[in-house]
Amino acid sequence: MNTPTRPLRKDREFVLRDEDFAEIRELVKLHTGISLSDAKRELVYSRLVRRLRKLELENFGDYIELLRVADATELEEFANAITTNLTAFFRENHHFEFLTQVALPLLEKRNAATRRLRVWSAGCSTGEEPYSLAMVLREEMSRFPGWDVKILATDIDSHVLAHAAKGVYSADRVERVGAKRARWFTRNGDGSYTVKPEVQSLIAFRQLNLMSPWPMRGGFDIIFCRNVVIYFDKPTQIELFGRISELQGVGDYLFVGHSESLFKVCDRYDLIGKTIFTRLP
Ligand SMILES: C[S@@+](CC[C@H](N)C(=O)[O-])C[C@H]1O[C@@H](n2cnc3c(N)ncnc32)[C@H](O)[C@@H]1O
Repeated sequence: MNTPTRPLRKDREFVLRDEDFAEIRELVKLHTGISLSDAKRELVYSRLVRRLRKLELENFGDYIELLRVADATELEEFANAITTNLTAFFRENHHFEFLTQVALPLLEKRNAATRRLRVWSAGCSTGEEPYSLAMVLREEMSRFPGWDVKILATDIDSHVLAHAAKGVYSADRVERVGAKRARWFTRNGDGSYTVKPEVQSLIAFRQLNLMSPWPMRGGFDIIFCRNVVIYFDKPTQIELFGRISELQGVGDYLFVGHSESLFKVCDRYDLIGKTIFTRLP
């Protein structure tokens, strides 16, 4: 017989009690920065129920206990399960056009003495964003002969990073890049496509939780932090963009997602285009 503290087995395999959901929300916020609204209850259930089955646990309470003792492997799987990884090649294409037409010509002049270009894709998901950046850089490489050009691509989610590092994509995803850019891919026997080594070699993929201390010291000419902070509350966004601004100098570029803004979040940037910012003195 069920007791009030045991999950009730009704039509569903497990019951996510109010107190379970409250604790899970707290743990998600603590470990990823993501704030889950009440509306995300179904999503939490469907994403985590797979973990319960895999671990052969009886209820969400047992799963929460495992997370509370900070089991490192499970915390990683937990973050992997909760994050939303939607992305695409050349998503918000105006950002990439701005790079080609405005930012890269300016950086070519500005960094002529150091001959160094650093780009960070923060929250890179399965890699489409950093590979889009790398394709643009390859296309503009005549501006940067012999330069030290690198893209750092980071995400909290180890699964999406593994996918990104492989650089293999289905035909329907690659179609988005257009005929002109098909040359940056090799077609595989099974119909999928692999990003060519000269594009891959510009990128270093690393696991990084934006809520944790960062090993990077700064010097990023360009930062893409797009469609990541939509899941964070205001105080977390303020803290994150404060830290991001520490990694940039005057005139460096920051690109955010189409529904994101720095209004009342960070006053160290000037809005110079649609969701495009430069670092102020
Ligand atoms: C919706 S995707 C956006 C991908 C890409 N930037 C774009 O705009 O297409 C958001 C990504 O942010 C990552 N993310 C969420 N919270 C994070 C955190 N605390 N640290 C690092 N990455 C995080 C997720 O794993 C996910 O891959």
